[in-house]
Amino acid sequence: MKKKIYKANILYTKEKNCFEVLENGYVAVDADGRVIGVSTDLSTLGADASAHRNAESDTELVDFGDRLLIPATNDLHVHAPQYRNQGIAMDLELLPWLQKYTFPEEMRYADTGYAERMYRRFVRDLWRFGTMRACVFATTHTASTRLLMHLFQEAGLGALVGKVAMNRNCPEGLSESVEEMVRGYEELIAEFNQPEALVRPIVTPRFVPSCTPEMLRACGELAAKHQLPVQSHLSENKDELALVQTLESIWYGAAYNRYGLFGQTPTVMAHCVYTEGKEMRLIKRNGVMVAHCPTSNLNVASGMAPIRKFLDEGLRVGLGSDISGGHDLNIFRVMVYAIQVSKMHFQKNHARPFLTLSEAFWMATKSAGSFFGRVGSFEPGYEFDALVIDDSDLNHDHYSLPERLERYVYLGDDRQIVHRFCRGKEVLKPVVTFSSPFCV
Ligand code: GUN
Ligand code: FE
Repeated sequence: MKKKIYKANILYTKEKNCFEVLENGYVAVDADGRVIGVSTDLSTLGADASAHRNAESDTELVDFGDRLLIPATNDLHVHAPQYRNQGIAMDLELLPWLQKYTFPEEMRYADTGYAERMYRRFVRDLWRFGTMRACVFATTHTASTRLLMHLFQEAGLGALVGKVAMNRNCPEGLSESVEEMVRGYEELIAEFNQPEALVRPIVTPRFVPSCTPEMLRACGELAAKHQLPVQSHLSENKDELALVQTLESIWYGAAYNRYGLFGQTPTVMAHCVYTEGKEMRLIKRNGVMVAHCPTSNLNVASGMAPIRKFLDEGLRVGLGSDISGGHDLNIFRVMVYAIQVSKMHFQKNHARPFLTLSEAFWMATKSAGSFFGRVGSFEPGYEFDALVIDDSDLNHDHYSLPERLERYVYLGDDRQIVHRFCRGKEVLKPVVTFSSPFCV
């Protein structure tokens, strides 16, 4: 790959409180796909305007004109095998919802043919909405999890993919012995666990109610042995909290912590709606990342996570779609919900201000991106994960650049995304090769 310089209207967040805005700016990207620098002055980026016209030059300048150039979004929590259930099954709270709708659907992934049809579509649609990295739950099935990892590799998207560990409170078809779980992970680790790879395994105990202490211990040991990241669910729903207390006789975060699943390796916990006090302090101390999933918390009627408080306390927070608890795969739309839910929270409890656009944007880009490496910003050294937005159809009056971005976040969709980059490489639309009606 040549060194590239992209010219456009550049917006990104270094800090959560404000946008960096470069009208007619340049971002220089090295041959490995890392940002060298951003500037409105080409000469400060080690190039001049004539250099790119010379075919001999090692630098290519690409002019995106009046378009917006922003960091790509990251989805910190999403269930690939729940894609068929997106937008349905909104009538139950978490525990009965899992039993009635979610587990029966996930059981279908024993069939790799079904898995391929659905997973191809899922990966294509992550691409569609500009999500270049995701933390993904698959199912217990090793073969279809492996398939999903291959589909991400083929697409050129970054993903941490978790074979789901579970052995209690679930149907037989989703339950595995501890030995089977470890064997399946060892296979996936042998194939995929390369340090710089875009697609890697992540240890994924579903949640405490789904895993016996032996299963949780084995997950912690796998994470430690292979230095793998961990993902799970935490403090999402009141009935779930009561169940954890009954099963483990301890508060929720402490249950993960005692098995080495709470920040001993990089860890992301989804929801944290009822996290407070000592659980919040342990999250902070251990550097655990919170995946805030506002659409899911609305649909499954879980509650409103205290995100402003988490940010004030210095916790790491990113955003997740949580398909199919959440209904929208578009992380820009999840930003909007995060802001709106925080306004509901504010109305209930005037103690803290609601979230702003730059905070929501930062959570979905730089903050969530930190779980994948140096991802989510255009500061030097960051991997160039970016979207080029042609918002001319939304831009029917004079708007400032931050207003144009705000309108894209609130009103835009995949139709305005004209280029997508992951680690410096342009990512083209993944091919869905099946003729099945599910795959067109
Ligand atoms: N807790 C355990 N499993 C799940 C799941 O699939 N979705 C959500 N929202 N919460 C969970
Ligand atoms: Fe979830």
